[in-house]
Amino acid sequence: MSNEGVDKTRRRFLTGATCVVGAVGVVGAAVPFVGSWQPNAKAKAAGAPVRIDISKIEPGAMVTEEWRGKPVYIVHRTPEILARLKEDTDRLQDPDSQQSKQPGYVDPTSRALRPAYLILLGLCTHLGCAPMYRPEVGAADLGGDAWLGGFFCPCHGSKFDLAGRVYKGVPAPTNLTVPPYSYESDNVVIIGVDEETAA
Ligand code: FES
Repeated sequence: MSNEGVDKTRRRFLTGATCVVGAVGVVGAAVPFVGSWQPNAKAKAAGAPVRIDISKIEPGAMVTEEWRGKPVYIVHRTPEILARLKEDTDRLQDPDSQQSKQPGYVDPTSRALRPAYLILLGLCTHLGCAPMYRPEVGAADLGGDAWLGGFFCPCHGSKFDLAGRVYKGVPAPTNLTVPPYSYESDNVVIIGVDEETAA
């Protein structure tokens, strides 16, 4: 009785041990494969979408985030700012963004998905300096009464309104660029992901 019992027990142990070795072998073989198709952390960070909670941005304020190594400006526009976008549009180079870069789903004049939040790349379309946020209406150093608030590029003096639309007679040829983005919820915007890239 006892010999047969020992043999059966031993056989069961050996069978179990073989299965464990087999499983380890499969996992061991799978690791190099997984490693070969996953982007490394640096590449992932460089191209990864950026989630931003916009609920903390005060009305009238701007925050700067980074996406793909570029500054992204997010401005919380007030109703007064939005109303001023309709004034003096004949001073703008491209008021309807016909020659400027922005996704097709963004309104061409307010240049946003939700008018209250303007989202732009913070790079001047002349030679790439970072324009300064200058929302003060009538700023003396920017033209006094003619200045309705906007962005001023300190490198060569280009001026943009609070939709990032470039004024005539400055070096920048086009409006500031609107990056691809979408809303994950009322309070969270994702830069780098939109309906087109998610499809
Ligand atoms: S880089 Fe902005 S005006 Fe030249």
